[in-house]
Amino acid sequence: MWPVSVKKLCAFCFCASAFVFLIMTFQVIEQLGQFEENTLRQKLTHTPLQDPVIVWWSPLTGELGRLGDCGRNRCFFTVNKSYHSHPHTKAFLFYGTDFSIESLPLPRHEQHQWALFHEESPKNNYKLFHEPLITVFNHTATFSRRSHLPLTTQHLEDLSALRAQTHLLPLAYKNQLRRTLAPVAYVQSHCDPPSDRDVYVQELMQHIQVDSYGQCLHNKDLPPHLRDSTAMDDHDFYQILAQYKFILAFENAVCDDYITEKLWRPLKLGVVPVYYGAPNVRMWLPDNRSAVVVDPNEPPKKLAQYLKWLDKNDGEYLKYLEWKQKREISNVNLVRELKDRPWGVHDISQDSFIDAFECMVCNRVWENIHRQEKKLPSKVWRAEESHLTCPPPELFEFAVSPSSSPRQIWRASYEQSRREARALGRMLRRNRNFTVTQFWREVFTD
Ligand SMILES: *[C@@H]1O[C@H](CO)[C@@H](O)[C@H](O)[C@H]1NC(C)=O
Ligand SMILES: *[C@@H]1O[C@H](CO)[C@@H](O)[C@H](O)[C@H]1NC(C)=O
Ligand SMILES: *[C@@H]1O[C@H](CO)[C@@H](O)[C@H](O)[C@H]1NC(C)=O
Ligand SMILES: *[C@@H]1O[C@H](CO)[C@@H](O)[C@H](O)[C@H]1NC(C)=O
Repeated sequence: MWPVSVKKLCAFCFCASAFVFLIMTFQVIEQLGQFEENTLRQKLTHTPLQDPVIVWWSPLTGELGRLGDCGRNRCFFTVNKSYHSHPHTKAFLFYGTDFSIESLPLPRHEQHQWALFHEESPKNNYKLFHEPLITVFNHTATFSRRSHLPLTTQHLEDLSALRAQTHLLPLAYKNQLRRTLAPVAYVQSHCDPPSDRDVYVQELMQHIQVDSYGQCLHNKDLPPHLRDSTAMDDHDFYQILAQYKFILAFENAVCDDYITEKLWRPLKLGVVPVYYGAPNVRMWLPDNRSAVVVDPNEPPKKLAQYLKWLDKNDGEYLKYLEWKQKREISNVNLVRELKDRPWGVHDISQDSFIDAFECMVCNRVWENIHRQEKKLPSKVWRAEESHLTCPPPELFEFAVSPSSSPRQIWRASYEQSRREARALGRMLRRNRNFTVTQFWREVFTD
């Protein structure tokens, strides 16, 4: 009996190890295969044969070469500027904040479409906000609702983030906290921006108590672990803010549709935002009674009186939180916008807005390729002034300060940017490359 069993056992062991060996070999072969496929793909990305090439004229994505699928269409995206003269190059993508006159892909060929992506604050590059410059682009993705790919809600994840009551505190508790806390909180560390908000807030503080945690008008400290700007999305920071009745949500610039997390954060927490920024903010609020909207033509004292009145009248204050308590978002425009936007925020199951922008351009490039194949005239896209527009920055009149004050620079900077935009517009239409010196000469002969 024994010898037979041992033989069987040995046979079994042999078979088993052979099996394991085989599996491992297959895995290695498969990995090698994948490796080869990857290198092949990498090679392909350096010599795109038939796909249109789209060049990022900015290091934004850092991608040296990627074949990207956009539905049924495919394009080759690269930050490698040496593709400027490649015969398959159909479009250039620009990032507003680093759009610079020092190097532009000129001359621009008939087939070169230009696309502008600008989601940041207007103050980062005022030049683009003037008709002669914005209209040189074919495609736009900006905070403006009128752009080809509006990014107005870029700081809002979804409706459920607004409806959430995770941080909402009962009013009775907020009233108790009022013994140690001001009714209003302010958290800004970038002082004296174009909206002139600090001057307004400083005046407001003469008439109502404000706890100011940021560097601007600072009068209250955050716990040490929340002091750097990366802690702005920390749970502990949210808990501190959620204790307040009001948060000053003042944007750094005043332009229609320019809305940031400053508005959404208090709405998510269940605190009433006192909002100053986009004049058309009502188009975006979850409900007409969800924020106190500052009227810049009224003195801050009047706003202070209104906030104090709400602080004393629970019923009136609660009207601003009714939408939150019922989880009801009555603004159909906001609901539609979040449903229709082809990108997500902090959501790996959806495209990012950069993916969506790249694909919008890729699909439009393909649209014209297909039209050419069918001998149809090409479709023409043009950015309009409304795709990126902001009125000149204005100072609040109730405060005077010396002309050397940092708050004075924005208006001058805006006017200067208008001259630069006119000069650049003329030079781009002449369609020859130019040096920085030639550009400044053009600006000053204006
Ligand atoms: C950029 O593309 C060119 C070919 O157009 C290639 O020779 C060069 O190596 C690329 N540069 C980088 C940094 O990949
Ligand atoms: C909000 O109020 C404005 C006028 O102040 C009105 O035009 C708009 O229809 C209202 N929106 C909702 C959703 O009630
Ligand atoms: C892109 O814009 C330029 C300048 O306005 C225009 O000449 C060109 O026809 C446009 N191309 C397309 C495809 O829209
Ligand atoms: C314009 O571009 C050409 C070719 O890229 C270059 O040789 C020339 O020096 C450039 N001229 C100016 C004024 O930058």
